[in-house]
Amino acid sequence: DEFSEDITELMARRLPSKILGVLYLIGQKADKEGFKVYGVGGFIRDLLLGKDNLDIDLVIEQDAISFAKLVSKHLNGDLKTFSQFQTARLTLRSGTRIDFATARIEYYAFPAASPEVEESTIKQDLYRRDFTINTLAVELNCNSFGKLLDFFGGTKDLKKGVIRVLYNLSFVEDPTRIFRAIRFESRFNFNIEEQTLIFIKNSLETGVLDKLPGERLYEELRNIVDEDEAVNTFRRMDELGIFTKIFPNLNVSQDKLVKLQNIYDILNWYERENKQKQEKFVSKEAMVFSCLLQDQPLPIISSILERLKVPQKIRDVIITTVKETESLSSKLEYTEKNSELVQNLEEIPLETILFVLADKENQKIKNKIYYYLEELIGAGVSITGEDLKTLGIKPGPVYKTALEEVRKARLDGLVTTPEEELEYVLDFFEQKGEDMHG
Ligand code: CTP
Repeated sequence: DEFSEDITELMARRLPSKILGVLYLIGQKADKEGFKVYGVGGFIRDLLLGKDNLDIDLVIEQDAISFAKLVSKHLNGDLKTFSQFQTARLTLRSGTRIDFATARIEYYAFPAASPEVEESTIKQDLYRRDFTINTLAVELNCNSFGKLLDFFGGTKDLKKGVIRVLYNLSFVEDPTRIFRAIRFESRFNFNIEEQTLIFIKNSLETGVLDKLPGERLYEELRNIVDEDEAVNTFRRMDELGIFTKIFPNLNVSQDKLVKLQNIYDILNWYERENKQKQEKFVSKEAMVFSCLLQDQPLPIISSILERLKVPQKIRDVIITTVKETESLSSKLEYTEKNSELVQNLEEIPLETILFVLADKENQKIKNKIYYYLEELIGAGVSITGEDLKTLGIKPGPVYKTALEEVRKARLDGLVTTPEEELEYVLDFFEQKGEDMHG
């Protein structure tokens, strides 16, 4: 029971005119060269939901790479082709990405396993996808431009707010869809349809996640971490027993969910505060994993991080955070001088520092951290080694010590101007009785 409707007007209203222009051009080229081309997937779903999504996914009923090459002649951008998958990606100068894919019959959870891509029709291509809400397509050829194709009830499910698979074995074929289902559920405030939920539960029972390669598991968890509604998704994961399937013994208590929400609030605060300043990269997932794993013994944490094939740098941050949170916060409790505060914090990963803010309730400690992040981080001195040279001090390792001392003095308010800094340095050398003049 195919359903079709003209959504040209909606497209004209919702899409930026540049994108609309690109879609018209694509339709024209397809007509001229005898291709059939469709806009598909999240791009169409979000268009109907009224949400911005400027990554354009196209399916072509013939060879996508030849078509992409044709189109790229008329658009300024960078074309990359992937012949083993018969796909191509054109990145326009505006940053808009256009993905070209050849219509195919099977969905490859593990692309390397099936190098042969069999050309098929748009309907078969859409059937192999994850959920009905992702099976909508729009024709782009000129004489049918804007015709919405809905073979599997996608518009109805979008209206009802339902996540529904197209066939029983969907989650067995591709267990990452379990994560996608709950991610979309939280993101759009939808509900997983009853039968689909049973499929999820059954596939979890049979241990589909055990066979999932660590990298793919990690990628799905990261996709969740990046969502605005991540904490709701975590709650749902816990409800469905997904956490304990990945991390044995992991108990996601109400307390933990509150801490997770704190992490997101603090990250939002940090991002807002640092918009103007040179932005320091903070790994969200390092903070989230630290929170989830915090109360597990270190060997268990290590084995989980190994199972997920977490990149080494992130692993290090997580281990440091789990190990240091307690000692760092008790150290901070007794830190009074600014210079000590800086000394205690400057070698610690930013994620660990922000984590303490989310983890601890002690307001005194938090204030010290806020003060460090807002006022002290990156503070230096005005005088340089050149100035020390001018003073006639023999260059050497002592320069570093001297400048470090001045920096402490400056942090603690003992000196404020460059002149005072110089004076302080001179005093420093006098007291040390160093041979200043070489
Ligand atoms: N897809 C799938 N099974 C997966 C991953 C993707 O069937 N495990 C299909 C979906 O139908 C989806 C399309 O491939 O529409 C593209 O996937 P993705 O790039 O993840 O796009 P979106 O659905 O737009 O997801 P997001 O909004 O999070 O980018």
